[in-house]
Amino acid sequence: MVNIILLGPPGSGKGTQAALLSGKLNAPHISTGDILRRAAGTELGSRAAEYMNRGELVPDSVMIEMIRDRFSQADCAKAFILDGYPRTIPQADALADILTGLDRRLDLVLNIEVPDAELITRLSARRVCECGATYHLIFNPPENEGVCDRCGKRLYQRDDDLEESIKNRLSVYKKQTQPLIDYYGNMGTLVTVDGSGSIEQIADEICAAAKS
Ligand code: AP5
Ligand code: MG
Ligand code: ZN
Repeated sequence: MVNIILLGPPGSGKGTQAALLSGKLNAPHISTGDILRRAAGTELGSRAAEYMNRGELVPDSVMIEMIRDRFSQADCAKAFILDGYPRTIPQADALADILTGLDRRLDLVLNIEVPDAELITRLSARRVCECGATYHLIFNPPENEGVCDRCGKRLYQRDDDLEESIKNRLSVYKKQTQPLIDYYGNMGTLVTVDGSGSIEQIADEICAAAKS
C-alpha cells in the first residue's frame, strides 16, 4: 500500500518517518512544509513565511493549488507519502477530488500520537537540513555536529521552532487538523500508531501497517 498520508501534531515525527518509509517503499515523500520552505525568496515563499513563523496555517486555496500541481508530476503517478497535507477538511476534500480524477484511491492514513510535553521537547532541539533530513540534538544527532549526514550541508533551526510559535502550532493542530482523525476514521482508512517509542520501533510499526 503506497498511497499514504501521515497525520499527527507538529513534532510527532511525520517528517522523520516519511523519509524512512519513502526509502523502504520507493515512494516520493511529499512534505508541504518543505515545499513552502524551499520557496523562500519567491513571492509564494514570503507570503507563506508570514503564516508559518506565527504557527498559523497557510490558506487552503494556496495549499490546494500546490498539491494539485505536485500530483501532476510524474514521480507520484504510482505512489505517494504525504507529510503535512491535508491539514483541514477542505484540503482533505480537495485531495479526494484529485485522487478520484486520477482514478486512484487512498490506501492508508497513519495517525501518529505523541503527548504534548514530548512534542515540545522534540521541537525545541530539532535541527533540519535543506535536503529534508531531520535531526534532534539529543535523540537523533548527526554524526558530525551541525552537518547533515545525508548531503553534508549545514543544519539550521526552523524559524517556527521557537516556544511561542510551537505553542500556537499545537493549538492550531487541535482546532483545525484533529477533526481529520474522525474524517478518515469514518472512511475506514485510519490506523493509529503510538509515536512515543524510538524512531526505529515506530518505523517498524508503520512499515508493518503499510505492508498489510
Ligand atoms: P510542517 O513543516 O509540516 O511542520 P509541522 O506539521 O508543524 O510538523 P513538524 O515538521 O514540526 O513535525 P514532524 O511531525 O514532521 O516531526 P519531525 O519528524 O520533524 O509545516 C510547517 C508550517 O507550514 C505549518 O505550520 C504551516 O504554516 C505551513 N503548512 C505546511 N503544510 C500546510 C498545509 N497543508 N496547510 C496549511 N499550512 C501548511 O520530528 C520532530 C523532532 O523530533 C525532530 O527533531 C526529530 O529528530 C525528533 N524525533 C522524531 N521522532 C522521534 C522519536 N521517536 N523519538 C525522539 N525524537 C524523535
Ligand atoms: Mg515535518
Ligand atoms: Zn541534508
